[in-house]
Amino acid sequence: MDIKVLGISGSPRRHGNTETLLDSFLAGAEEAGAGIEKIVLRDLKYATCTGCNACHNSGVCVMKDDLTKLYKKILEVDILAVASPIYSMGITAGLKGFIDRGQYLWAKKFVLKKLYFSTEHIKQHKGLFISTAGQSWNDVFDAAYPIVTAFFDSTGFEYYDNVIANNMDAYGGIQGHPTALADAKTKGEEVVREVVSLISTGTSERQ
Ligand SMILES: Cc1cc2nc3c(=O)[nH]c(=O)nc-3n(C[C@H](O)[C@H](O)[C@H](O)COP(=O)(O)O)c2cc1C
Repeated sequence: MDIKVLGISGSPRRHGNTETLLDSFLAGAEEAGAGIEKIVLRDLKYATCTGCNACHNSGVCVMKDDLTKLYKKILEVDILAVASPIYSMGITAGLKGFIDRGQYLWAKKFVLKKLYFSTEHIKQHKGLFISTAGQSWNDVFDAAYPIVTAFFDSTGFEYYDNVIANNMDAYGGIQGHPTALADAKTKGEEVVREVVSLISTGTSERQ
């Protein structure tokens, strides 16, 4: 079965803690038989939403740049992992700018009512949030979760799980963490197997 997994890294630091954690997750997904792809937002050219609200009438975004193609791709994958380090207790500006540009999907769904994801589609499409933080605080990821929830709601993914590792400062980076990289890999394998199983037992055609 051809399962597509897309990882989007919102860390401005190439091959840092967050992208490395995402890589482990993708390696696990690949080992479970999925086709994987990673997009690094830092390498893309895109503008942030200007709030013109043209999408409320048209259902499309007037801005045409690297995100136009990326959003098309998102709607074609089975599993989507969005990754960001915690910056100032939230996600990075790069990831937030990308997520805001998905507003046209929200408008298409809730204003124009021209986008509909069936319950089965949502069940078979899993979204994960991958993140790292410097501090050990238990609440360090809390501001990120509602943003990720809203994003998966507009794009038709069930918010499956988080792959998170805090206390990076004390560990001296992700490589010093005792379990995070192995856990991320296991999660990648697990979610692919879960989607394969849901699709094989699904009641209708894949949409
Ligand atoms: C601008 C900036 C803001 C940060 N803000 C926080 C924060 O509010 N809380 C926290 O725990 N760590 C914070 N950190 C630390 C990063 O979350 C942490 O080092 C993370 O693992 C970096 O991931 P990366 O290697 O992918 O860049 C911040 C780092 C930067 C550069």
